[in-house]
Formats: sequence, C-alpha cells, structure tokens
Amino acid sequence: MSEARENPPAAPPAITPEAVDAAVEAALTAVTDAGDTAALKAARSAHAAEGSTLAALNARLRNVPADQKAALGKLVGQARGRVSSAFAAREKELAEAETAAALEAERVDITALAGRARVGARHPLTLLQEQIGDIFVGMGWEVAEGPELEHEWYNFDALNLDPDHPARQMQDTFYVDPVERHLVLRTQTSPVQMRTMLTRELPVYVISPGRVYRTDEFDATHLPVFSQFEGLVIDKGITMAHLKGTLDHVARALFGAEAKTRFRANYFPFTEPSAELDLWHPTFTGGARWIEWGGCGMVNPNVLRAAGIDPEEYSGFAFGMGIERTLMFRSDVKDMRDMAEGDVRFSEQFGMVV
Ligand code: DAH
Repeated sequence: MSEARENPPAAPPAITPEAVDAAVEAALTAVTDAGDTAALKAARSAHAAEGSTLAALNARLRNVPADQKAALGKLVGQARGRVSSAFAAREKELAEAETAAALEAERVDITALAGRARVGARHPLTLLQEQIGDIFVGMGWEVAEGPELEHEWYNFDALNLDPDHPARQMQDTFYVDPVERHLVLRTQTSPVQMRTMLTRELPVYVISPGRVYRTDEFDATHLPVFSQFEGLVIDKGITMAHLKGTLDHVARALFGAEAKTRFRANYFPFTEPSAELDLWHPTFTGGARWIEWGGCGMVNPNVLRAAGIDPEEYSGFAFGMGIERTLMFRSDVKDMRDMAEGDVRFSEQFGMVV
C-alpha cells in the first residue's frame, strides 16, 4: 500500500502533463478501489501524502525555470486539488455507508415481543400467610411485625420463661455470637406480644405471622426454619370464650364450615390457663380426626405486668400456630421439606395466584 513511502522515487519524474496525469490517475483508481475508511487512509498516504509522486512533483516546482513556474504550478496545483476532493468525497461516502451499516447491525425492533420468561408461582406458604392475615384484618385486627433476630429478653424473659426453662438451652435455640449480646434467632412469634404491648395503645387486636428458627432436624416433619402466626388481644373483659370463638371462626375460614376446635389443658409460661389447640376436620388424611394445631391461653398476669399493664383492669388471650402444619393438613402435604426447597413444581400445584 504505502509503496511510495517504502521506496521513495530516487529521481522524481520531471513535471510533464503525462507524469501529472499518471499520478492523478493512480490516485483516483486507489480512491475508487478503497472499500472502507481504513483502505482509504492507506490510499491517501500512498497517493497524496508526503512521499507520494504528487508530493514529489509539487516539490520539484521549486527547481523549474521561472518562466515555466506559473504553468507548471497550475498543472500540479489543479491535479492535487482534484485528488484531494476525490479523497474527501470518497471519505464522506464511506463514512455514511459505515454509519448506516452500524445502525442496521445494531437495530432494535421495539415492536418485537420480548422473550417470554416462564411465569413462576407464588409460594403456597406466602399465599396462606396472606390469607391468614386477611381473615384477621377482616375482623378488624392489625398485622404486627417483629424482628427475626431477637433479644433474648423478648423471646424468653418477657414471656415469663425463667432462665432454667428447657427451651432456652442450646439444643433448641440458635444463639448468635457473641453470646453476651443475648441475641437469638427467635424460636417463636410470641416475642411480638411484648413488642406490641410496649408500643401500641390499648386495646390491642393483632396478628403477627413470620419466620421462626429452632435447631431442629431437616426431615419430613421438622424444619430448622418455619413460620408461625401469633395472635394477641388485650382489652377489658376478655375471656376464654372470646379466644374459643375467634379460633373457631379462623378454623372455619381456613378449613371450611365443618372444622371444629377443642382445647386440651396444657402449660405455657406466658399464658394462664393455657391450652393445646386441636383441630378437627372430616377430610383430613387418615379420616375425620383431631390434629394438634397450636398453643393458646389467657395472657399471664406476669406478662401484662412486665408490659406495664394492670391485670386488674385488662385481660387478654394469645395463641400461636404453625403455618407449615396448617398447610400440611389443609393441602395434604406429606413432607415438610417440599415447602422449604423452593421447587416451582411444588408451588404450581397450589395455583398460579399472583
Ligand atoms: N409460642 C408457642 C410455641 O411456639 C405457641 C404458643 C402457645 C403461643 C401459647 C401462644 C400461646 O401465644 O398463648 O410453641
């Protein structure tokens, strides 16, 4: 390409119309042949830049006799002018063609349909949790939330669990380092009870669904992380009948009109009296039967006092149920691990509710 540069003519041709025409001709052919701007650049350095035949002819003008200077100067000048405008025109043409090609290559069809990603399904636990929330909101309750990383005081002490209570031992509770900070992954949604009593005006009617953690095995009936919903009512004149009526309503709203509940006496440190809550339904797997659903009771006066509430004036009830258990019985899920693994084929069976 840059022949002229590599082998500069030792003795440039004399300035004759033929020599000038030949140089112009060669330059114009190179211009036409250049297929892109890079080739054109190379052609320019070979045929128009310093070291080219035309440049050499121009340089020779210095040595021509004075009487020929005007004529030869005009000849060379016009030749250089033609070549330079040919380069300019071709350069413009190539640049436009290259821009057009780039635009075409990068063209985006904004009317084209986007590649359709497969729509997922919402997790059945999320759906159930929302449905539970809706049932309570429908009764005028509020939804309360609490942190999953909880202070031991809210998770245990405030709930009347003394320091020797077995649930506080390492085998049940995930303690968070350093232990002196007294932080745990909450083992139940019950700490929201105290948070609610300390921050809300009385009376309170709250439901608090959320995740809880225990150092349990990961097997068909246990998960180290699962969810519960906690209910708390504090008002004047609240009795166990209100608790029973509420739970019956919720059982029917979730499982259908034939659902029934019953209490079995039990002990929980934060309620007195306390009961285990059983649920009956005719279509449970294994036939019509009672299953254990959760715990409940009348809020222990010690808990009310810890929250600065006078137990002579106010009373309340509380309950806590497992959401995974609820889903297991309602939808006949046999292995709890299916609820934790996040396989969309599991979720899809519960419908594609958005
Ligand atoms: N927090 C208890 C548990 O995880 C369940 C429970 C029992 C909640 C009695 C309550 C209650 O609010 O009154 O086993």
